Amino acid sequence: MDKVTVPLIAQKKQSGQKIIAITAYDFPFAKLIDEAGIDVILVGDTVGIVVQGEESTLPVTLDQMLYHTKMVSRAAKRALVVGDMPFLSYQVDIERTVENAGRFLKEGGAAAVKLEGGATVADRIEALTRFDIPVMAHIGLTPQSVHRMGGYKIQGRKGQQARDLLNDAKTVESAGAFSLVLEGIPAPLAKKITESVQIPTIGIGAGKNCDGQVMVLHDLLGLFTRFQPKFVRRYADLTPIISDAFRQFKSDVETGKFPTEEESYPS
Ligand code: KIV
Repeated sequence: MDKVTVPLIAQKKQSGQKIIAITAYDFPFAKLIDEAGIDVILVGDTVGIVVQGEESTLPVTLDQMLYHTKMVSRAAKRALVVGDMPFLSYQVDIERTVENAGRFLKEGGAAAVKLEGGATVADRIEALTRFDIPVMAHIGLTPQSVHRMGGYKIQGRKGQQARDLLNDAKTVESAGAFSLVLEGIPAPLAKKITESVQIPTIGIGAGKNCDGQVMVLHDLLGLFTRFQPKFVRRYADLTPIISDAFRQFKSDVETGKFPTEEESYPS
């Protein structure tokens, strides 16, 4: 299978093929995702919530993101690896944005970065694109804005908010973003945005009319159980399976069933 590239992602929209993306944060899962033929592996700052146990993505650092991006890149033979820029790694100024984003490509082995925001980050997207750092934009329910939004709330339900999001989508496209994540917005608005821009939209909680879909790994596998958003479909329910394995191991050691002679080295 051919390597997935930034231009290939753009072409997929033109040829009407859906773009499939899953988040990953380590080598073993990234390898399985890559081997399953998934187009994009997003090293998301959701690592803060689903791996680190934080309440939000805000505490995640650039060094942590680079650490996870390196592991994922080592495993991804075909998929496009996108590194997610954490809070405060692109908000301060353009110079630091370019330097920090560049580290995802230089040290992390990613092919692109993702950052949250619309018109407000257009100058960042423009600068990164100019220096050949491809950008996946991300608008709607942007988790790094949790405090402004007053929680993880669906965005774009009201007329002006919807118009602002449509304007954001067009602005990030003009700034050079090669794709656009639409998170937590009404399905009809996602459809309208998707029809209004040339770049592919990748939805999460944005209905079926986006050009692709992204899902958080731990949601997809039933490994994140603190809460289940409406848009999450668990394709596997691994929590009880893993839990059973741990309990079985404990019981087998306690009752002398593990290890057996076959599982031991003779002298
Ligand atoms: O960090 C992340 O995993 C994301 C996806 C939810 C799109 O931004």
